[in-house]
Amino acid sequence: MNSESVKDNLSLGTFERVHVDAHNSSSVAAVKVAEKIAALIQARAGEGRYAVLGLATGSTPVPVYRELIRKHKEEGLSFSNVITFNLDEYYPLERSHRESYWKFMQEQLFAHIDIQQANIHLPSGEVSRDEAFNQCREYEQAINEAGGIDLQLLGIGRTGHIGFNEPGSGSESRTRLVTLDAMTRRDAARDFLGEGNVPRYAITMGVGTILEAREILLLAWGRSKAGVVKAAVEGTQSDQLPASFLQKHSNTRFVVDQAAASELTRNTEPWRVGFVEWTPELVRRAVAGLSLKVGKPVLKLVEKDYNENGLADLLTVKGSAYQLNIEIFNVLQHAITGWPGGKPGADDSQRPERAEPKSKRVLFLASEPQEDILGAGGTIHRLKDQGHEVTIAYLTSGGLAVPDEEAISALDLTSALNRLSGAPAAKGLQVRIGELKAKGLLDEDSLEIREVKSAIREAEARQAVQLLGIESSQLKFLNLPFYSKGRYRRFSVEQEDVRILAELLDEVKPHQIFLTGDQADPSSVAGIHFQLFNRVFKKFLTEADWSAQTYVWMYRGSGEEWPIHEVNMAVPLSPDELRNKITAAFQHRSQHSQNPYALLEQNESWQRTEYLNRNTAKIYDALGMAEYEAIECFVRHHP
Ligand code: F6R
Repeated sequence: MNSESVKDNLSLGTFERVHVDAHNSSSVAAVKVAEKIAALIQARAGEGRYAVLGLATGSTPVPVYRELIRKHKEEGLSFSNVITFNLDEYYPLERSHRESYWKFMQEQLFAHIDIQQANIHLPSGEVSRDEAFNQCREYEQAINEAGGIDLQLLGIGRTGHIGFNEPGSGSESRTRLVTLDAMTRRDAARDFLGEGNVPRYAITMGVGTILEAREILLLAWGRSKAGVVKAAVEGTQSDQLPASFLQKHSNTRFVVDQAAASELTRNTEPWRVGFVEWTPELVRRAVAGLSLKVGKPVLKLVEKDYNENGLADLLTVKGSAYQLNIEIFNVLQHAITGWPGGKPGADDSQRPERAEPKSKRVLFLASEPQEDILGAGGTIHRLKDQGHEVTIAYLTSGGLAVPDEEAISALDLTSALNRLSGAPAAKGLQVRIGELKAKGLLDEDSLEIREVKSAIREAEARQAVQLLGIESSQLKFLNLPFYSKGRYRRFSVEQEDVRILAELLDEVKPHQIFLTGDQADPSSVAGIHFQLFNRVFKKFLTEADWSAQTYVWMYRGSGEEWPIHEVNMAVPLSPDELRNKITAAFQHRSQHSQNPYALLEQNESWQRTEYLNRNTAKIYDALGMAEYEAIECFVRHHP
């Protein structure tokens, strides 16, 4: 659903306290932002003046930087009259460090354009604590001397931080040394190859410093940002969510994609914002939402419930509450099936999947091991039990997510086993253990160590799927080159990736494909997985007969589930099936948190999944459907 279904958004201002531009995709949005920046630079150049840009790091601005580089190379956009100030830098951290923001900016932008190095400013993570205060003061002075920031780019953290102004930062705060929030450090753990490696502090421009920019663009992509975007746009200003202070600034825009805009009232309850066209999806959303809000099953909703909750218009269009309730009850009910591959011999006119062929070729795609099980483990098990030919393909090994300690203990064990069996001690093993132990914080892994880490994840994957009745021979480890060559949040797809995936699809010729990633940050591994799939599959749609018969189903990533009104197929799991699925997810031991308290906080991915699957069943129960132990959900995707 998108905001276009709101015909007239007269009441938008009642909800949104800052201007929001929601684009269909992050790539479209990034091009618009780059155009704006280019226009500013050129206007300033025309006046013989400098353009002063405030810049951000992280994955969000990367597509904007790529577009700026393209404009420089192909359209001759010059940055010779540009001065930049970056928001922040980790502390303490050397500039030469692979994860320093200094390095990030060089790699992602500065090295590819004609900016003068002397015009680039970033706080330094190298100064001593005593010098930090002076550095911060001088940073503010330098901004003032440059005439202030013309245009400030921002991302937003899941804590609601802008720059590294974590919850608790006041609206008047200035450039300073801050402590990073636990969630921010967890989010950075993958970049730093483990949470323990993430610096505890940062130097950041303050909220007050940011608010002095003449214009501000905050960018956000992907569903994981939707909650915090809603809070910043629609909530009251509070230092518990520093991005909300942007409401104070009269020239700020949030530039977001549909996934990041998905929780704004304009999307969740568009009828409260203006006149809407009642599409089937919107009607489902309204009725299911009403049922949960008033705490009554769908079939018990009465006209009063609709009228008192801003849905009188829907009743006028649909006739009566009675009719509407039955219509929506049936749609919700028909999505529930214990036959995810179709029920052989049954009338399938109201079922999510076709009855024929009786035994289907099913392809599960996962961006890395465990994603398949967390998102669809129970369904994989059922498909297998119901006689379908299941293949699971992992696009990447997921080796980058294996902490060094795990690799060391795997190597230690192997070498102990070698000794036990009297096999000659593999010299290479000792060398690698030594290499890992000597590895400096955040050094890149050698190719050999990467292979060890990949092997660990492959072994875990094989062990896990066995519990679902899947044999090793049904697994494919594609090891796409984009992953082995790149780094987190900086991957880019190459022709070879396309070729490998195309070959797999052509080999399996699946009747059903399950995948994920459409709601993910486009630069994440899951986001890349989804883009790559679409690119490959669209080609088949025009060229190969089999693909027209393929149903594509989306599962959600770890820790997330589809909103009920979007679900096209809901697969119930019995208590035993749920237990089995969670035990399978648990086999991915290298992915367990290194922090034992994560278990108590219910923060392990298998714990979150168990909660979600049980909760989905509770939601269906509350809507008036049968009561199940747990449910996995899927949305049909039409590439
Ligand atoms: C980066 C910064 C941060 C990020 C935010 C979002 O300079 O100050 O506020 O913008 O953490 O990070 P990503 O874009 O990686 O989701």
